[in-house]
Amino acid sequence: MVLGLFDSGLGGLTVLREIARRLPAQPVFYFADTARLPYGSRTPAEICRYVREILHWFEQQGVRRVLMACNTSSALALPVVASEYVLEVGGLIAPAARAAARRGRRIGVIATAATVQSHAYTRAIQTLAPQAQVWEVACPEFVPLVESGRLLGEEVRSVARRYLAPLLEKRIDTLVYGCTHYLYLDPVIGDLLPASVHRIDPAVAAVADLAAALPPSRRLESRASCHFFVSGDPVRFAQAAYPWLNYYPQVQAVALPPL
Ligand code: SIN
Repeated sequence: MVLGLFDSGLGGLTVLREIARRLPAQPVFYFADTARLPYGSRTPAEICRYVREILHWFEQQGVRRVLMACNTSSALALPVVASEYVLEVGGLIAPAARAAARRGRRIGVIATAATVQSHAYTRAIQTLAPQAQVWEVACPEFVPLVESGRLLGEEVRSVARRYLAPLLEKRIDTLVYGCTHYLYLDPVIGDLLPASVHRIDPAVAAVADLAAALPPSRRLESRASCHFFVSGDPVRFAQAAYPWLNYYPQVQAVALPPL
């Protein structure tokens, strides 16, 4: 059974990496909505429309299970659209909130403006741990930095320092990466935080849930392939993804039929 993964761009590759580690035999269709990136500055109605189009396209490809490898979609669209489909659809907020609530009492979340405005993380964490304090910070400059391959250096450090300052002031003990793109900035972000701050990658908990839901035989087969699809420029995506995949992927352009 093919698993559908999608994101606005490169961020979901961090989830794909975790799938390759935990479920190396799982075949994947990865869809990157690069023509409409970034999702984080879109309205909830736009995000729901994009996600419906993507889920519809996955259904047409015969995919039966989808993991939203995008926090913005998970926060805004999952609760609205999941029940409209026969597909099994999962997201990142609930597993990441569970991991955060288990460890932290002073929890920082860095995410896109749309995710922060939804307060999905605060709600999910405080439902599990009512005594936990949660502070969410929107980091709109991070996605453009990652998509343009600027991951290190003084420019990135100074942007990250600015976004982390309010969380450092609150003396957080846990930081949730509330956007899959931000994982690429972990070397800089980790360096700016005290070593005691626990950093949560939502992919780890989400893929653990997925592994538990799949038949054990799926974990024993040989390495499966991933097929890549984009709504934008396939060559550009292949070039940008290459360093993260360690191979140059075949990428197919797809025109999503509007609903
Ligand atoms: C973005 O396109 O703004 C990033 C979406 C996300 O991973 O939350």
